[in-house]
Amino acid sequence: MSFAALPQTGDDSPWRPPAGWTEVASLRAASPAETDALARRLAEATGPGDTLLLSGALGAGKTHFARAFIRHALGPDGAGEDIPSPSFTLVQTYDTPGGEVWHADLYRLGGPGEVIELGLDIAMEEARCLVEWPERMAPDWPERAALLRIEADPGGEEEARRVTLWTAPGNPLGSRLAAAMGDGA
Ligand SMILES: Nc1ncnc2c1ncn2[C@@H]1O[C@H](COP(=O)(O)OP(=O)(O)O)[C@@H](O)[C@H]1O
Ligand SMILES: [Mg+2]
Repeated sequence: MSFAALPQTGDDSPWRPPAGWTEVASLRAASPAETDALARRLAEATGPGDTLLLSGALGAGKTHFARAFIRHALGPDGAGEDIPSPSFTLVQTYDTPGGEVWHADLYRLGGPGEVIELGLDIAMEEARCLVEWPERMAPDWPERAALLRIEADPGGEEEARRVTLWTAPGNPLGSRLAAAMGDGA
């Protein structure tokens, strides 16, 4: 696995999906609560071996999405659960009734070998994984994963986000998640 630098502040080159991947669904989340609702729907639509790559600028809502997803996966125990951002630990894991959930943040990844040291490559096969700053894995994107891109909504309201789903062509995870996203416009 190789190791990619992240875009730096002031670098205004447009975001590009992994080469060959296509957009399979899109919706507007007008508020944090709507992002929570989407995270719960996607938590229900995923199982062991499914990876969601969470892409977006600092403050887009990647951790916010992951917290709602994990709380829902934890079930009744999730309500009061502290779900720390893995920005320093790189990985947090959770035992849920539907199997292990891994929450990773690769922003501070030290090098390509660390993905393997962390066990993330195996976890992506066996657990449900949510990976912030997946650009660190470029260009070796995990082909079976789906990518959720979270961006400010062009409409301009402070709390509105445009959420798009991207996968490699023919990835069945794409159709499963697109169905769960509905046609939320
Ligand atoms: N529609 C929205 N969806 C998700 N988060 C939102 C939304 N609107 C505002 N926010 C806020 O934006 C912030 C996102 O922070 P965070 O999830 O830590 O970002 P990231 O992990 O992408 O850097 C949170 O404070 C969250 O409440
Ligand atoms: Mg974050």
